[in-house]
Amino acid sequence: MKIVSVVGARPNFMKMASLDAAFRKSGKVQNVLVHTGQHYDDAMSQVFFDELQLPKPDQYLGVGSGSHAQQTAEVMKRFEPVMDLEKPDAVLVVGDVNSTLACALAAAKKQVPVAHVEAGLRSFDKNMPEEVNRLVTDHLSTWLFTSEPSGAKNLEKEGITDDVFFAGNTMIDTLRFFHKKARDLNMKEKLDLEGYGLVTLHRPENVDDSKTLAKIVALLEVASRHEELVWPVHPRTKKQLEHTGLNQRIADNKKIRLLEPQGYLEFLSLQMDARFVLTDSGGIQEETTFLDVPCLTLRENTERPVTVEQGSNTLVGSDKGKLRAALEQIGRGTYKHATVPENWDGKAGQRIAEYLEATE
Ligand code: UD1
Repeated sequence: MKIVSVVGARPNFMKMASLDAAFRKSGKVQNVLVHTGQHYDDAMSQVFFDELQLPKPDQYLGVGSGSHAQQTAEVMKRFEPVMDLEKPDAVLVVGDVNSTLACALAAAKKQVPVAHVEAGLRSFDKNMPEEVNRLVTDHLSTWLFTSEPSGAKNLEKEGITDDVFFAGNTMIDTLRFFHKKARDLNMKEKLDLEGYGLVTLHRPENVDDSKTLAKIVALLEVASRHEELVWPVHPRTKKQLEHTGLNQRIADNKKIRLLEPQGYLEFLSLQMDARFVLTDSGGIQEETTFLDVPCLTLRENTERPVTVEQGSNTLVGSDKGKLRAALEQIGRGTYKHATVPENWDGKAGQRIAEYLEATE
């Protein structure tokens, strides 16, 4: 069986690492790896290939940045000839970025079956570009691999019941595999940190509008009164901080330390030793749940409800009161603890490989 697997943006790489390893281990699938180039800076892409032991992509499409339509269209145009060349039995996509949607659509139009890893997640907020990507990708897919129980329930409500398989979380496979290496890296000591909160922000709805971004910076100022904050800044956010002049306000706050985007192991090390994480990322809500590190999500909704119901995640949105209450609980040691969700056991990639091999 020949599969063309797609990665494009930062959160795809850790999901693919486990799948690629599983395919290589079984030897029954020829996995052709395609990188669309949606993310292209070394710090957003190459460092993950190096650290995650991902092979060099067989094809690099060099798409780069653009509006949603431009980026999606460009990936489709460049991906179609790859399918003509490789003639795969299936195209495998992960997550919910524009590259995921574009390759699923290009494949479906050529009647190549699509396997979607991380299917069925829903925030029910179509203002999020990822929600549109998730909806369309799932409806084009032949095989749908879910990562948490909400996935199958959401799909069933949309009339998708065939070939839905509760595989578990391939990103957590990768976290488990690299846990010790990240621990040994000890970024806390390297950066000379005591107690700290870790910040990540990149969602367009949080960073693109200057008023909203100013509100979020005010929330960070509240949190910085509890602990020093360490914040690796995404390129999208960096541009906006500079554009709005908020970078100056942050520079004046001695308890907020800005860093460049971090590699996988570095960031994982920072997460595991943080007193809390403040984020708008989806994947980080899951990683902190696995690590049982308090995660305060600066969003009103989540497509990953298991991280709230069973994990260490709380949706604080833009509510200072909720943020303060959670920080006080963390300070007092009364914040909730996580239990590891079902099938986040390090074997999701292997289950997906076995499932696809059996479809031959
Ligand atoms: C994308 C995904 C988002 C994911 C995030 C992780 C979509 C719709 N969004 O958002 O789901 O959570 O990646 O990071 O697919 N840029 C660089 N260097 C890079 C890549 C981007 O400087 O290597 C800058 C460019 O100015 C670009 C901007 O970041 O315009 C945004 O990049 P883009 O890929 O469009 O979206 P992300 O915000 O990264």
